[in-house]
Formats: sequence, C-alpha cells, structure tokens
Amino acid sequence: MATRIPRIAADKLLKHATRRAPINLTTCQPCRLRTRPLHTSAPRRTSPDTNPRSASDKPASSNVRTARVAPVGWLVGGGLVASFLALSQNHDTEHLPEASVSPSGDNRDPSIPRFRLSDVRKHGPDSSEPWVTFEDKVYNITDWIEAHPGGDVILRAAGASLEPYWNIFSIHNAPHVKEILGQYMIGFIDAADLGPDGRPAAESIEDPFEDDPVRDPRLITHTLKPRNAEPPNEELDRTFYTPNDLFYIRHHMWVPVVEEAKADEFALTVELPDGEVKQYTIGELKAKFPMHKVTAVLQCSGNRRNDMTRHAGKTNGLQWGVGAISNAEWEGVRLSDVLADAGLNTTPDQPEANSLHAQFTGAEAYGASIPLSKALSPTGDVLLAFNMNGEPLPRDHGFPLRAVVPGNVAARSVKWLNKIVISDEESPSQWQRRDYKSFGPNEGPNPDWEKAPSIQEMPITSAITGVWVGDCVRKGKVPWMGATENHGTTNPCPETTPDNEPIALQGYAYSGGGRKITRVDVSLDGGATWDQAELVDDCSNPATPCHGNKTWGWTRWRYEGTLPVLSLLPTTTATPALPPALQKVGQDCEDGFGRSRGLLGKKDEKNKKCTTLIVKATDESYNTQPESHKGIYNVRGNLATAWHRVKICPECTKGNGKPGGLTWSTGETYGCGFRREAEEVRVGMERAASLVNGKK
Ligand code: MTE
Repeated sequence: MATRIPRIAADKLLKHATRRAPINLTTCQPCRLRTRPLHTSAPRRTSPDTNPRSASDKPASSNVRTARVAPVGWLVGGGLVASFLALSQNHDTEHLPEASVSPSGDNRDPSIPRFRLSDVRKHGPDSSEPWVTFEDKVYNITDWIEAHPGGDVILRAAGASLEPYWNIFSIHNAPHVKEILGQYMIGFIDAADLGPDGRPAAESIEDPFEDDPVRDPRLITHTLKPRNAEPPNEELDRTFYTPNDLFYIRHHMWVPVVEEAKADEFALTVELPDGEVKQYTIGELKAKFPMHKVTAVLQCSGNRRNDMTRHAGKTNGLQWGVGAISNAEWEGVRLSDVLADAGLNTTPDQPEANSLHAQFTGAEAYGASIPLSKALSPTGDVLLAFNMNGEPLPRDHGFPLRAVVPGNVAARSVKWLNKIVISDEESPSQWQRRDYKSFGPNEGPNPDWEKAPSIQEMPITSAITGVWVGDCVRKGKVPWMGATENHGTTNPCPETTPDNEPIALQGYAYSGGGRKITRVDVSLDGGATWDQAELVDDCSNPATPCHGNKTWGWTRWRYEGTLPVLSLLPTTTATPALPPALQKVGQDCEDGFGRSRGLLGKKDEKNKKCTTLIVKATDESYNTQPESHKGIYNVRGNLATAWHRVKICPECTKGNGKPGGLTWSTGETYGCGFRREAEEVRVGMERAASLVNGKK
C-alpha cells in the first residue's frame, strides 16, 4: 500500500470494538493512570535502540491494557473523547517535572535521561517502539496506542512532536490528557535541541499539513490547517459541474500522501459480519468490476450555517456561507458489486439490510457509516469512486479512492477510503455519533447524543448565489443573459419601466435522497408576493449529461424580473417627489437628495430602505424549506435550510461632478455592484482564518 499512514493496531481494534460488543458510550472506561513515581522509571540512556524501560518497568501498559479498549475512530478532537476522558476518576498521578532550560543552562532534574531529537526520529511510526515529544519531554507511547481513544492516529506523530496534532485536536488541552501522557515520559529532550524558550525550535516540529496540496487561490478559506474552504459565489454554480479545483473542501485532518505511481496498489479491506476479510487493490477493483458514473452533489451538513447564526443565534462550527456544496460527475465501481464479490450475501430486501451498516474508514482515520440498505440498493448508486469530473480524484477529494454516497450528507462520503466493515453498529467515530446530528432548538450544547439519529439523507435547500440589478442587467453583465437574449447595452430589458429596475437572480436548489426539485419560488419583497424561477435543464444538455438512477445532482435556477424601485424610496420626506426616470435618481444623488430619500451611505445603514430577496424550493415529494432558522435552530448549526434571504439596499454612487447613479449593496452575493462587497467578505474571512491558524 502506498499510503504513508501507518496501520498497526487499528485493524485489530476496529474489528474487536466495532463489530462485536455493542458500544455503550456511557459505560466506556477511561485510560487508567499509573501511580508509580516517574523518576524511577527511566534509566539514563541516549541510544534509541534499546527500550529505556525494562520489561518489569511497565505498570502503565498493564493498567492501560486492563482498561476497556476504546474503538478506533473515537477520535481526538471531539466530544466522545471529552466524555471518555471525563470519566477518568483516577487523579493520583504524579505531575510532570517542570521544564527549566535557559541560555545559562539546563536546570531540569539531572536524574532524568536526555534524548537528542535525532534519537526520537528513529522511533517513528514504523518503529516497534514509537516515541513522541511534547514541549521539552520525550514519551514512549508504545503501550498507549491500543488505549488511545483516537486509535493509531497518534502514530502519525511518532518520531516527532505531538504538539501540531494536539493543536488540531484541541480537546487534548485538558489536564487529564496531559496526565495520561505523563505516564509514558522517558526523559527530556537534550538541551542542545532546545531553543532559548526551553522548547524545540519551530522548524524541528513536523507540520502534519506540509504535504497538503496547493489550493486554488479563489477558494474562500475558513481554516487553513486542516483546510476548509468554499468556492466564491461567482464560481460555485457558474457551471453545472463544479470544477475540481473549486469544489468545496472539508477536511478534519491532513491529506494523506499516496504516490500517484503506486495508486493502483492502494488497498481496500472489506470485512464482513462473519469476520471474513477480503482485500482489493485499486488495480483489482478497476479490472474486476464494471465502471459506473453518477452525477451527485456533496453537501456538508454545515452548509449555510452562517445564515443560521445571523438569523437565529450563535452556532458552533465552521461558518460556511452557501458554498459548502458542489456538484460533480463521479466514476467508479458500485459498492454493492464489491460487497457481493467479497461474499456478502445479504440482499437489499432482507430485513438485515436495514439493521446492518457499512462503515467506512479513511487513511487518516476519519470514519463514518451508512445503512447497508443504502449501500446495497440497486437504485442507491453508492460508488467507490476513482474519478471526479473525468479526472482522477484530486488529493483533496480523496485520491485514490473515496466512497460517494449520493443523496446523503457528504460526511458519509469518506475520502482516502481504505477500509469497509459491515457491522451491526454504526461507525463508532465522533463524526457518526456526534458531530453530524441535529437537535431541537431547546436542546442546547449538551444534548442526549444517542437520542438523535445521525444525519443521512439531506433535507431540501436552495440558495441565491448571484444578484444583478439595474444597469448591470441592462449592460449585459449577467453571464447567462447573452446578446441573444436581448439584454445587451442597446436592448434594455423589455419589462423595464422608468420606475422599475431590471433584476436577475441565480442559484441552486437541492434535495437529498434523490428527490427531484420541481419548483423554485422567488420573492423580491420579503415574502409578500412570489414568482417562479426557471429551472435550468442541465441534464438535457449534451455537454453535461446526468448519470444515476435518481436526481442526485443539484438544480440550477435563474430568475429575471423587475424590482419596483420607487417603492423602496421614502416618500414622506420634505424633498420634492422623485422623478420617475431613474437617470434623475442619479442627479438626485449628486444633489444630495438621495440622502434624504433613503439612498444612504454606510453610516446611515439603519435608516436605509431595503428589500429582501428570498428563494425557497420544493421537491417531488412536496417537501419545502422552513421559513425561518429560528424553528430549526440547533447549537451545532447543522441543516440550516430555511428560506435563503438576501437583503439589498439602494445606494447613491458618486458622480464626481456629473450625475451620480443608483447602485445596490449586499454583502453576500455577487453581481455587478455586489462584487466589491463579496470581495470584502472574502478577504475578511481569510484574514480571520490566517490569524487563527497561521498562514500556510
Ligand atoms: N473523509 C475523510 N477521510 N476525511 C474527512 O475529513 N470529511 C467529510 C467527508 N469525507 C472527510 C471525509 C466531510 S464532513 C465532508 S462534508 C466531505 O468529505 C467533504 O468532501 P470534499 O472535501 O471532497 O468536498
């Protein structure tokens, strides 16, 4: 296998912990802490070839081994680990010795061994005795791996510092975790490898993200490490298939490295309920099974979370705009074909199909599962995909192999897929059991996690991704209104009257479970009146044919209408009535009348007379979106599917001596007049992200 991700205890643990005994989250036992004084445990040594601890010197391991083993995928960084650790009642551990290295010397306890970083590096992931460092200390974690709640993910740090990983999985910043780590301390980092601050130099600390791919600069980045980014609105649904380099990215960890030349050797393990295990390389999968194409959206359950935050209250999680969704053509082999070949004889109509689950694990240890009924459904189109939009999967999107589960939340479409287990339980990962669930508005930050089902099929949603008003419509700036549609400079929109501005909107609508979008409703006046958008029939376009048994892709929509501008302007002012011709509005702006008419500058934001554009969609089952986010509010901000609203406000533009003009503002969508603000939003978000994460 060409992946660099080491796999030792993980398989064993996963098998043991996920297929057999049901996991009772509330009865899991914590890692046990040893009570033996640290200072007697580690004889001084500098060679890494021999274990500094003698065979009899392993109380930590025996304690850990007697603890109930936490399954792989109860991952670092999330609530399950928190509860796991919170259960630890044993507080009788020693404290770690304090670091004290200064330019004047090493004042740390001289009886404790010193190790050079070059020695530590020899105890990497493939070593039988993996070591890690944390701050100025060295730990032999051999015995911890089995009991580590995150399974062998910790091995990623072996031979180097834990710090970058614990910075990602900030749950480790808890005294309990440091106490547990303290059990495995074998010495100090030699003072020669420490900087003036008593810590290893930054460059000697491995960056787990250093092998991450280079990303398209147009992506709006929410976090740099791990990278989470969405395409800007103007790129999101410009085309039916989102280009690969603009497809949104949602990572929980780093991107595993798989050499291109060795991709065909990348192995997928399939484990059946009876314990039977079969392995396929990618080369074998490609040679043995027929290839299929499926057109499918991937959408994060946090898509539009930012919308929920703004309209209903604070939510935890990445503040996605409307772009945590993208559409692609996927190609690969059917999961159901592979499972049948591996020996699974359950058929989709058997009751078993409803009680079993297909658990997926990625090479960096992310995990999730889907009901086996979906995996086996002859119309479910679940793929083990190698290609995306006609090219091999990009690294960010799962190269060389990912599950694609059309119609379901994208969290189940596991990237860098290297293991499938058919189990009577859902994946034990926090992403299955916690993060991707939704709760009632009353339930607060500590709900009964087991009560809610994990999100699978996605509800219906839609969003406005572009708005054009006035001149920019007249001047032919709307990409899909070409000269052929008579909206060029010389042919103003026919419906436009002097008191109305032409308006154009575009966006997407999508419903999970393969349910087709049948209608998209648009309101230009905050929901008082409604009109219908045109649904773009991309699937009938020979350039973008759709594949699959159901409507797994999104539906793009467009709307052309007129905005009654005069109704947006105040009529109760002392200034003369606004002349109907919009050119005159420009003159008014220049003369200062605009200010009193509500065409106001930023500082008068509150007084502006604005209107709210709304979109909502309906699918073939007559599901439609809820009116407000308040009713579906949940602290995690999942499934933010309420009507999408975009407020637009008239503004005066400066005429610089000549008549000014009328323009429109919104911070959310693009179009001419809006592009500047959209750009500001983007730069602001990136600046915030770089402050939080450090620039990559
Ligand atoms: N698979 C792995 N191995 N690791 C991950 O972090 N993220 C999941 C899913 N599969 C994830 C994963 C989530 S939450 C989402 S929304 C989608 O991948 C995002 O897929 P994309 O980055 O290709 O858009």
